[in-house]
Amino acid sequence: MNAEMRDKNIVLIGFMGVGKTTIGQLLSKKLGRDFIDIDQQIEKDFQMTIPEMFQQKGEAFFRQTEKEYIVQMCEHTMGSIVSLGGGAFQQEDIRKKCLEHCFVIFLDLTWESWQQRMDLLIENRPVLHNRSIEEMKQLFNERKSIYAFHNLKVETDNRSAEETADYIVEILGLGRS
Ligand code: S3P
Repeated sequence: MNAEMRDKNIVLIGFMGVGKTTIGQLLSKKLGRDFIDIDQQIEKDFQMTIPEMFQQKGEAFFRQTEKEYIVQMCEHTMGSIVSLGGGAFQQEDIRKKCLEHCFVIFLDLTWESWQQRMDLLIENRPVLHNRSIEEMKQLFNERKSIYAFHNLKVETDNRSAEETADYIVEILGLGRS
């Protein structure tokens, strides 16, 4: 493993429900690195869930907060596995910082696969509330253009979370040897 990869944070991006947190936790165990979930950190620090924050403080407050947390992580953390919220890469400042300081992995999945898990996701995802299926598909497709900024893309459709994590370890040559 080269020294640069050892020190870099590995950041996971992708649409809501693709498995960023689950895969991140698995990667953290497999690689013996710390795991940071930015949304969970925000929820813990503010003592409220993300839907509550959207409702009580508004989306703009959440977006500003997620930017501050991600910039802080980029500048002050090394060698961790980091899961970002699915909308974080909309912000240019976040994209720039992450691509400058971290190795960014885009976890991709098809709309067909996403639709199968959609019902489990909606309740806790305020950005999906009050959207028709067509509007969700539009958001899904729009988001692809922000996830295009990455260092590595991994297809998750035909892989379990465990298989995806194993694949990432293998492809990056990060296994402990
Ligand atoms: C969001 C995704 C969520 C969370 C917030 C907004 C988005 O994270 O940050 O609800 O705009 O895509 P997950 O991708 O972990 O669901």
